[in-house]
Amino acid sequence: MSLKLKSGFEFDYENLVGEGRVTRDDVEQLAPQLGKAHKAMDTMRKTGVIKAHLSKDGTPEKVLFSQLPYVEKGNLNSPESIDRLKKFGQSLRNRIDTVISLGIGGSFLGNKVLFDVQCGSFWNMKTREERDGYPRVFFSGNNIDPRSTKDLIDYINHAADMAMHHDKKNPHKYKVMLICISKSGGTLDTMSNFMVIYDALMNNPNVEVEVTAVTDPNTEKPTLLKKMAMENKWESFAVPDGVGGRFTIFCEVGLVLGAAVGFDIEAFLAGAKQMDIDCQNDDIWQNPAMLNAALKFIASEKYGRNEEVMMPYGDYLESVSMWYIQLLAESLGKQFNKEGKEVCYGRTPIVALGTRDMHSQTQQHQEGRLNKIVQFIRIEKWPNDLTIPNVFPQAHKLADIAGVTMGQALEVARQSNADALASNGRFNALFSLPELNAYYLGQLLYMLALSVAYEGELADVDAFNQPGVEAYKRIMGPKLQQVKSRG
Ligand code: PA5
Repeated sequence: MSLKLKSGFEFDYENLVGEGRVTRDDVEQLAPQLGKAHKAMDTMRKTGVIKAHLSKDGTPEKVLFSQLPYVEKGNLNSPESIDRLKKFGQSLRNRIDTVISLGIGGSFLGNKVLFDVQCGSFWNMKTREERDGYPRVFFSGNNIDPRSTKDLIDYINHAADMAMHHDKKNPHKYKVMLICISKSGGTLDTMSNFMVIYDALMNNPNVEVEVTAVTDPNTEKPTLLKKMAMENKWESFAVPDGVGGRFTIFCEVGLVLGAAVGFDIEAFLAGAKQMDIDCQNDDIWQNPAMLNAALKFIASEKYGRNEEVMMPYGDYLESVSMWYIQLLAESLGKQFNKEGKEVCYGRTPIVALGTRDMHSQTQQHQEGRLNKIVQFIRIEKWPNDLTIPNVFPQAHKLADIAGVTMGQALEVARQSNADALASNGRFNALFSLPELNAYYLGQLLYMLALSVAYEGELADVDAFNQPGVEAYKRIMGPKLQQVKSRG
């Protein structure tokens, strides 16, 4: 049983719907709520209004992420803004040696996805020619870890020394672009790293530093980062109002980083747009975001499956899983519903990677508490797939696997895992992408974003706030001041 879109994107729910699983009857009983949720999505698309959504300061706020795939004049992403992003990307080529992208949460996770899918793990070890002139990229600001920050500074200082003193043909200053990303403009994790790295690199005469700021564009009430950008004439891009951190991969936050490494941002948005169009279908069995939301909601509420393991098969997709953690946790992990009644809703998201975690977590998925949905992601076609050669013919066990490709073996492993889980009453489902490219990535991520919006309506919780992350901040601020005054 599956829903396959024209693009080839497929949602296979065979192991989630049926006898001993979520039933079609369960889905039918949800029809009135689904109808309302579908209407709410339509209103959100047309007006940006989501009932009862309030911003951090308690005022009504629009929800605009569903506008982002539409590159149109006057929209948050317009032909002009995309053009500017592309020019920005081109301006780094063969000029900037290294980009350091600083940000946390929604100002980091999406960027890491785009980087991993576009560049993979060995990008920074490639030559400039192999990188097509695009810079090396490091991430910082997603923790406050003195060791990794110091290691990064040491690396840059060493590279700068090499560029100035050991590049016989072209001794030059090492050029670093710091892309500082913070919607609020003052997040401690991001800004502490920014200050430490900026100061260290500015004090190195062999390094030339440029800064690009990505923050709330409001110039009348500027964020700290916006103020600094204006004072220092740093180039800046926008985190628009109405786009929460977990949706910013579709706006300039994600797209700036995409442009910096030659990612096809137009194909990415085109994939998201086609998904949005497909999800306007009011037949639940033809609408992947509505169907995914309904099945997960029923699985949680009726069958107690309140943990969701996001398990892509493919190394460079692990960051998709990390991105999804924020999306699911911040959108649906809510103590109160829209009427103020305590509901303590949500599923605990879990990062897993196939095949790696089949040798660890799968024991728990297969035999542990019956409270999980395992959500797989599969890539159907791997370019440059490798055939496992028959190099040790006398070793029969190894000879047996020779002749199949690694892509085939990966899929056989995933299917076997899915079958084993299903045979023991364990709910699982599959998102299948024909290929790993910008278009299908846009389809997948947008579908997940829209799905949590649907589920917010089904569960009657505000999927667009995150009051829970403020609690520790209220404690941490005064604590830091105490530490400072103690010296
Ligand atoms: O979803 C969110 O709002 C958070 O995860 C933020 O993205 C994160 O705290 C970073 O905030 P900022 O971009 O304001 O620095």
